[in-house]
Amino acid sequence: MRRKLAAGNWKMNGTKAALSELEALRDAHPDPAVDILICPPATLLSPAQSLVGNSPIALGGQDCHAKTDGAHTGDISAPMLVDAGATAVILGHSERREDHEEESHDIRIKARTAQAAGLMTVICLGESLDQREAQDTLDIIGAQLSLSVPDSSTGLNLVVAYEPIWAIGTGLTPTPDQIGEVHDFIRSRLERRFGPGVGRSVRLLYGGSVKAANAEEIFAISNVDGALVGGASLTEAQFSPIIKALEAAV
Ligand code: PGA
Repeated sequence: MRRKLAAGNWKMNGTKAALSELEALRDAHPDPAVDILICPPATLLSPAQSLVGNSPIALGGQDCHAKTDGAHTGDISAPMLVDAGATAVILGHSERREDHEEESHDIRIKARTAQAAGLMTVICLGESLDQREAQDTLDIIGAQLSLSVPDSSTGLNLVVAYEPIWAIGTGLTPTPDQIGEVHDFIRSRLERRFGPGVGRSVRLLYGGSVKAANAEEIFAISNVDGALVGGASLTEAQFSPIIKALEAAV
């Protein structure tokens, strides 16, 4: 019932030369059984749109401003992302929360603006290692979820990504039980807040050191509807096997 989603976050990686990887990805997946989303740097959205505009691969931004326009030097708005070819945007990634001191309430306002512009918002949540060791994970995730997700969310415009901070780019991943516990918790919270219809239709992604070698195991976990992939989304050779593992889990 929920279509699976393989999402790639290129972060601050990639100049025009990297578009050859996107082209290869497009050619490798002409008719995927899952949704595919690539979030390149904003500078590449327009040329990426020229490459994949007529293919099943969707494009997303990695952040947007809370306002739609105005005097905000260096920022990019949700309507600008739409104009450049994006249909989605990642919000509240832990690197944004850390590097730019973004708090959950900032993310909720951004998400509201992005959803109003027609973007699907991929809202990221995750605990630090200290928080996990202190057994605070579910409290942290619950608070981030309720504060970051706007009331305007639906199954179409909201995707939630669980990304433990200690698993991002480290090669460490939680156990399947740990992932399942958090995903089941997020699902029950969404059902309680939005009702079973919307709550069950929101896709939940796992993110943090997903690669070909662990994808199958992660995609077998209940309430894991796909992955948000950083490093292993940068090349077709690494991302394609993850997409195939997700297709096999459908
Ligand atoms: P990683 O990053 O796959 O490189 O660990 C995941 C993410 O930050 O979305």
